[in-house]
Amino acid sequence: VAQPLQALRHDGGVLWALDQTLLPWDERWLELRDARGVADALEHLSIRGAPLIGVAAGYGVALELALDHGADSLSRAAEMLVSARPTAVNLAYAVGRVADAAAGYEPGPERAAAALREAQAIERQEIASSDALASHGADLLSGLQVRRVLTHCNTGALAAPGRGTALAAIAELHARGELELVLAAETRPLLQGARLTAYELGHLGIEHAVIVDGAAAGLIARGEVDAVVLGCDRVAANGDVANKVGTYGHALAARAAQIPFVVVGPCSTIDPQTASGAEIVIEQRDSWEVGTVPAEPSGVRFAIVPDATRCLNPAFDVTPAELVTALVTERGVITPVDRDAVIGLLADATAAG
Ligand code: MRU
Repeated sequence: VAQPLQALRHDGGVLWALDQTLLPWDERWLELRDARGVADALEHLSIRGAPLIGVAAGYGVALELALDHGADSLSRAAEMLVSARPTAVNLAYAVGRVADAAAGYEPGPERAAAALREAQAIERQEIASSDALASHGADLLSGLQVRRVLTHCNTGALAAPGRGTALAAIAELHARGELELVLAAETRPLLQGARLTAYELGHLGIEHAVIVDGAAAGLIARGEVDAVVLGCDRVAANGDVANKVGTYGHALAARAAQIPFVVVGPCSTIDPQTASGAEIVIEQRDSWEVGTVPAEPSGVRFAIVPDATRCLNPAFDVTPAELVTALVTERGVITPVDRDAVIGLLADATAAG
């Protein structure tokens, strides 16, 4: 079994991050030393995927507090990092945890050390969650006799510490010898499926093919997919799921064909403060991401729309809970997915500490 990839490493006051904008062409590491550097890497999607965003932001706070012992450095770093991207709740979750851990100390080395300990604790927790997601997810898929999976965006080791979320479950099904094929939707506009999921599946030796996002519904309707399995960026209290744009379309296609639509993510991606998907802020990104495609590994891009054309670029969409067959978390699987089940799951998590 191949070693999982590692996208982030904290070492000696530096956060090293594999620059995901350059994959699969180039494996280059960014050397991040402060909150501004981490926030920029998050905004540019050099670091991406909900749990990984959270872990990186936690380290971003810790880096800043080690450099700046000023009275307002904690609030400035926290605000800078939280505002880097709005949709994945792991960002606010991790920054909040690290800020709370540091808040009881006077500015100085002890406060920085407390922040670092909490950032490391979050990373360890996400790695443990990833193992649990892999086994709970594979148990569920195995029970449903799933052999051919369609996935979207990237949910592996590049998106979450450890093995990832949905891709961890898919890889575990493969390790058990039960997986036939993964169809990876390319995930326009930034091609996380084509660039990153294909890279990870190749690394893991898993049989796969990339499809354009628009091919998914037709393939599902023709019976070529047993289940859609993907991740999440924020799950509302009622079970509505925000995930990479295109997810909702796959959910509708899965429902029409009556195949399972399975969402995999840790409890750190569930936001009990958000009552329903209607309240989730959807990140709107720049027009050029849609209006161009990569032309060279250097980052040069090629325009695919006329000069004056404006593109809309919502980075996420919301899938209503009733279309979600099951939500796989590190604490177990909930099905059906509704408010009672989500709140019950979080209450169990709180009770267990
Ligand atoms: O914009 P991105 O690449 O950060 O979006 C990532 C996704 O939508 C993933 O599906 C989600 O974060 C789950 S990752 C384990």
